[in-house]
Amino acid sequence: MFSSNYTNRLFGRTRGRSKKKINLKNYYEKVDKYKFQNFNKNSEYILDVGTGYGETSIFLAKQFSDKVVISCEKYIDGNIILLKNIETNNINNILLHNGNVYNVLDITNKKYFRLVWIFFPDPWPKNRHAKRRLITSEFLIKLHKILKNNGEIYIATDSIIYVRFILNSLYKCKDYFLWVNQSKINLSIKDYFDIETKYYKKAINSQRKPSLFILRKL
Ligand SMILES: C[S@@+](CC[C@H](N)C(=O)[O-])C[C@H]1O[C@@H](n2cnc3c(N)ncnc32)[C@H](O)[C@@H]1O
Repeated sequence: MFSSNYTNRLFGRTRGRSKKKINLKNYYEKVDKYKFQNFNKNSEYILDVGTGYGETSIFLAKQFSDKVVISCEKYIDGNIILLKNIETNNINNILLHNGNVYNVLDITNKKYFRLVWIFFPDPWPKNRHAKRRLITSEFLIKLHKILKNNGEIYIATDSIIYVRFILNSLYKCKDYFLWVNQSKINLSIKDYFDIETKYYKKAINSQRKPSLFILRKL
């Protein structure tokens, strides 16, 4: 069902460094149970991109129990934790896409999404890796297409380099989005949500203050 000729490659790790033994057969059976296959025109969706250990997906599913959260992540160690937490919390509104967010975006042009969350996208700080960064103006315009009217995008990052990159991407598509919290850039994520992801904690432990961008579709 997913097209295989998407041009946007997915970089980064699929397995954790510990190389802890994983029963992949069991893993893929579990993934199949929660797998995102296609859109249901009667549902409203939230897109959670690069979910790591899935903290944001669990948070969003609880917060918006009337919506379906599509959690996109290829990191197996993280997805295992997410799948475990879905079951222990009896959550029934998360679907997992074990792969690239572009696979999901490429199958529709319809406005299925109320909200898109991208928490701590890989910053790829070296210049030679800049092409790997996800938040380009092309990507934002792609999200614009599938967002409902007034739908919102939340992007968190603790990388100054990525903040600059996002500002540049945003400037290129300024006619598509309102930067809702532009006058409140000093607020932190905790002023908005009681949530701590792995990369949020990493940032705080290293005394880096995460920035949050809230963009509303125009
Ligand atoms: C730095 S981690 C952040 C994880 C989590 N959101 C957090 O805050 O702890 C970024 C994650 O995004 C995932 N990722 C990167 N590009 C992606 C893409 N195109 N589609 C889906 N996931 C992606 C990576 O696999 C990685 O696990």
